[in-house]
Amino acid sequence: MQFAVDTAFSRLDFQTIHKWLSNTYWARGMSQARIQKGFKASTVVAGAYLRSGRLIGVARCVSDTTRFGYIADVFVEPTMRGRGVAHKLVKRMMEEPKVRDVEHWYLLTKDAHRVYEKLGFKVFDKPERFMRLSRKNS
Ligand SMILES: CC(C)(COP(=O)(O)OP(=O)(O)OC[C@H]1O[C@@H](n2cnc3c(N)ncnc32)[C@H](O)[C@@H]1OP(=O)(O)O)[C@@H](O)C(=O)NCCC(=O)NCCS
Repeated sequence: MQFAVDTAFSRLDFQTIHKWLSNTYWARGMSQARIQKGFKASTVVAGAYLRSGRLIGVARCVSDTTRFGYIADVFVEPTMRGRGVAHKLVKRMMEEPKVRDVEHWYLLTKDAHRVYEKLGFKVFDKPERFMRLSRKNS
């Protein structure tokens, strides 16, 4: 299967992205407008496209472009999984000039650790240093 990763916001198909993300455990029920707002405010967005132009995967990151970056909303269309799409999406996104020099990358995942381990991520070794304040139960 041939696909290419592109970081242009204008190419993203938000009807499809909304259909995908609003059924995930972390963004269940979110409106298309809020999902699109989050992508628009992100530092780098990435889409994986078949040669036909069809979107088959997406990812985004938020970063200060120097010390830290946070990866979110990594999703690959169910029929296209297991072919390296997520790996290439995240790798390509982290290589984008704007965020290439970021010192520390962070993300949360319930069960996709392997995807990120292959890119060098490790489980946080000092969880007691990690804090969060949530306004939503997810
Ligand atoms: C998780 C997800 C993005 C992976 O996409 P993908 O394109 O199938 O992943 P890749 O093909 O790039 O996989 C890269 C590696 O991770 C492994 N992997 C992929 N998904 C995995 C999962 N859910 N659990 C454990 N390992 C996984 C693959 O086997 C592969 O390792 P290998 O080369 O040793 O076989 C995709 O299954 C998905 O969209 N899931 C639903 C949304 C989700 O959970 N997103 C992640 C949020 S952090």
